[in-house]
Amino acid sequence: MTKALPSPRYEVSVAKLRRNLELLADIRDRGQCQIVLAQKGFSLWHTYPIISDYLDGCCASGLWEARLAHEEMGKHVLTYSPAYAAETIPELCDISTHLDFNSLSQWDAFKSQIIAHPRYLSGDLRCGLRINPEHSTGATPLYDPCSSGSRLGITADQLENADLSGISTLHFHTLCEQGFDDLSSTMDAVEEKFGHLLRSDTITELNLGGGHWLTKPDYNREGLIVFLKEIRERYSLEALWLEPGEAVAIHTGILVSTVLDIVRNGDTEIAILDVSATGHMPDVLEMPYRPDVLESSEKGLTYQLGCPTCLAGDVIGKYAFPRPLKIGDTITFDDMAHYTMVKTTTFNGVQHPAIVLDHEDGKKEIVREFTYEDFKARLG
Ligand SMILES: Cc1ncc(COP(=O)(O)O)c(C=O)c1O
Repeated sequence: MTKALPSPRYEVSVAKLRRNLELLADIRDRGQCQIVLAQKGFSLWHTYPIISDYLDGCCASGLWEARLAHEEMGKHVLTYSPAYAAETIPELCDISTHLDFNSLSQWDAFKSQIIAHPRYLSGDLRCGLRINPEHSTGATPLYDPCSSGSRLGITADQLENADLSGISTLHFHTLCEQGFDDLSSTMDAVEEKFGHLLRSDTITELNLGGGHWLTKPDYNREGLIVFLKEIRERYSLEALWLEPGEAVAIHTGILVSTVLDIVRNGDTEIAILDVSATGHMPDVLEMPYRPDVLESSEKGLTYQLGCPTCLAGDVIGKYAFPRPLKIGDTITFDDMAHYTMVKTTTFNGVQHPAIVLDHEDGKKEIVREFTYEDFKARLG
């Protein structure tokens, strides 16, 4: 007998992931660029063997993501952190292929150690600087690295008389869920402020960061492909990188939950679920956004979907259903693979969702279930 699937659970579809990867590989091949997975958005490493068939590696936000990429995917490991702890530098040099710095002070602090490393000397490790083109295009201030006073990236004025020997990559990341036009206007700002560096002999690689909604049906992929080839030729670049997270995993996963209780307050009918917005889908509260619920309908009986924690605001929103909900019903949230599984907590000791892979042959594999011991181990 096959084991019943647990609730709650994240379920990631391999077929849907492959569909995104095929689109990305096409951009990579025809745009003559390299594309890596931004693990901060999606790090279900059980899928890395599949991802590595299509992409060039991973980008990492520090030592732990770099280790995960190195162990589970291999290929390129592009590490960038807003600030590195000194003790992480030796191992980062051992396993990264690119190590990008957010400030000249950090580059200056670690430069002598890095350029003496055998992997740097052999050309297997290259170093870069994150630049800040001060060109905001996004709608959400929380996700705008170009906002006034931002800590992310070096502004052009700071690079005026800087010694960039040892640096071969410029890296910018300014977008979030955006299309090609915003990348193009950002690149105009980059060329205006940093074009002289791109034309210099020392800068041979450019990293265009993430935030590109590359796998959305209306993304101008043909425009991007032409743009990538032009940029590469204009600056005689050896490599041009894109590091999408969301675009890899968008529309690949669901979060399946169960109704634990139905209560009422005045006119509000409330269904309390076994998942938490703050614990298991924090962007619903942070961004904020309203996830789609597969069982909901446009019209019908409306319920506030609430969560089993003590946080009063831990509610997902009001949804209509075609028939009255009852205890034990399944409620499925769509698009719950990226920036969800990587951000969860065990707040209130709520049962952490299991992780299930929905394979292309129809088999559903439980890759991880979480126990009381996992909860306890995080706290001491
Ligand atoms: C430096 C960097 N690269 C890549 C990404 C991935 O962005 P996205 O998942 O929106 O494509 C991020 C996201 O914050 C980032 O900060």
